[in-house]
Amino acid sequence: MTSSLQSELAAAIRTIENYPKPGILFRDITTLLGNPRAFRRSIDELVHPYAGTKIDKVAGIEARGFILGGAVAHQLSSGFVPIRKKGKLPHDTVRIAYSLEYGVDEMEMHRDAITPGEKVIVIDDLIATGGTAEGACKLLKQMGADIVAACFVIDLPDLGGRKKLEALGVEVRTLVE
Ligand code: PRP
Ligand code: ADE
Repeated sequence: MTSSLQSELAAAIRTIENYPKPGILFRDITTLLGNPRAFRRSIDELVHPYAGTKIDKVAGIEARGFILGGAVAHQLSSGFVPIRKKGKLPHDTVRIAYSLEYGVDEMEMHRDAITPGEKVIVIDDLIATGGTAEGACKLLKQMGADIVAACFVIDLPDLGGRKKLEALGVEVRTLVE
């Protein structure tokens, strides 16, 4: 990925101070999503390493991982698996508690969303502490997924998320820091 593309994507992301809590610099991708060229180039860049590879499922993490993950799944002709905050999925679920930069929560996926051995890519907009993505990867592994990689538009490297996922044996790909 070229540094000019990295600069273009970084420039398309808006920063909001003290949201959702005092002291947090919130990286808001709605401006990137609303920019046709930056949105397309982000999806192309997320998809690129897997072109021609069979990826059975893209797992998107609520909420912004749904937008990016849906587009990536379409491009790769993969299925899409939503990983949601607790209480939102209608069928039998597996659930895990997790913590993130500014809180704690629980997430779920449907028990039958993955067939053991399926190749899966995890997608979200951003990795900070990695607590959210770690929870998603643990659920997917519990259901027998073969996680090919976890991919994010934004990495906040000082918060250590990449190392947390790598400790689980998950390859991490990010577009901008
Ligand atoms: C944000 C972001 C990631 C997570 C990353 O989601 O979209 O999912 O935080 O933080 P972490 O690496 O410290 O775990 P948020 O929990 O704000 O949920 P939302 O997308 O539903 O608003
Ligand atoms: N999730 C966790 N930390 C975040 C941040 N600083 N900006 C946007 N989403 C986040």
